Amino acid sequence: MSAGGSLFVRRALLLAVAPTAAAAVLGGLGRLGIVEGLAAAHAPAHGPLFVLGVFLTVISLERAVALGAGWSLGVPAVAASGAAGMLAGVAGAAWVSAGAALGLVAVNAAIVRRQSAVFTWLMLLGATALASGTVAWAVGQPVSAVAPAWIAFFVLTIAAERLELSRLAPTPRWATWVLASVSVALAGLSLALAFGRPAPAWALGAALALIGAWQLRFDLARRLVRQRGLPRFSAAGVLAAATWLLASGAVVALRGSGDASGPAYDLALHGVLIGYVLSMVFAHAPIILPAVARVQVPFRGTYYAPLAALHGGLLLRAAGDLLPDASLRRAGTLGNALALALFAATVLHARLRPAR
Ligand code: HEM
Repeated sequence: MSAGGSLFVRRALLLAVAPTAAAAVLGGLGRLGIVEGLAAAHAPAHGPLFVLGVFLTVISLERAVALGAGWSLGVPAVAASGAAGMLAGVAGAAWVSAGAALGLVAVNAAIVRRQSAVFTWLMLLGATALASGTVAWAVGQPVSAVAPAWIAFFVLTIAAERLELSRLAPTPRWATWVLASVSVALAGLSLALAFGRPAPAWALGAALALIGAWQLRFDLARRLVRQRGLPRFSAAGVLAAATWLLASGAVVALRGSGDASGPAYDLALHGVLIGYVLSMVFAHAPIILPAVARVQVPFRGTYYAPLAALHGGLLLRAAGDLLPDASLRRAGTLGNALALALFAATVLHARLRPAR
């Protein structure tokens, strides 16, 4: 594919994520009855829409660009088709997403073949957790059983990206091996759960908490937060994300992850999926968008507003889950949805009206 054609496909795939994300957010609000009727139509598919429709598409696109092989762009295209299938309620859409997740394993394996390093192996392990969990879901396992495998995918992929960036401030060898060992344990435990085997919640929570603590201690963000502008903003997002991972892991280790619905389940999932994953997305968007779609989104101080709204909303939601207090939980959940909308508006504004 020519460079121009590939850029067109990359941008089209990123744009295709927007309606999936909107449906996923409305579906999430629908699960609490905050929106009803047609707006809430995708409530049952909320989790898969976010994990497979939005993030599998975006992350496989980013990995395909990193690999630079024409065939690898087919993976996010398949992921986007799976998302379209889920939105249209097509039977078998789960298998399309599973195919895309297996494709991401192939892309990461090709990257490992090119560069065998701890961070590339961690990404391959993360993609393997995602693909296994998604196949288990397509076979009929409930989302609650495979969610830990999906979470392992996010945590390993992001930890690996950060490890690669931190080569600018080399990590001690022993610390890298600690991260790798805890990651293998996290992947193993989550895969056991995905395939209906028992795995202790304390061990799963401890693995998440250890990775969060590791990042707070060794990530380059600790130094960058003392700079100004974009480096400080990104570092603030990374450190806040790592704090959520540490805290959510500790809560799961001490209190378990609840049943397949309710406050404990909500906190176990979203402490990581919003506190860690979305905070990392906000922190890296001004860096990833130019790399993936050659779209410049200049840094502005206003980027702090959605980041603060995201964490503020999640604090309310976590308080509502822990107490438990249904109205706090609803307010915080709504706050999370508004933070995402504010983030999209802030990035769009920075793109259309760059500061002089
Ligand atoms: C930003 C707004 C979000 C809102 C409003 C929201 C809302 C919700 C609600 C209310 C639930 C049900 C919890 C329960 O059963 O008690 C839920 C479940 C879930 N959410 Fe979210 N969520 C959001 C973000 C995310 C993100 C970013 C992800 C993934 C990256 C995610 C993945 C999931 C998953 C996997 C489940 C479990 C679904 C199931 O068991 O079928 N959510 N969400």
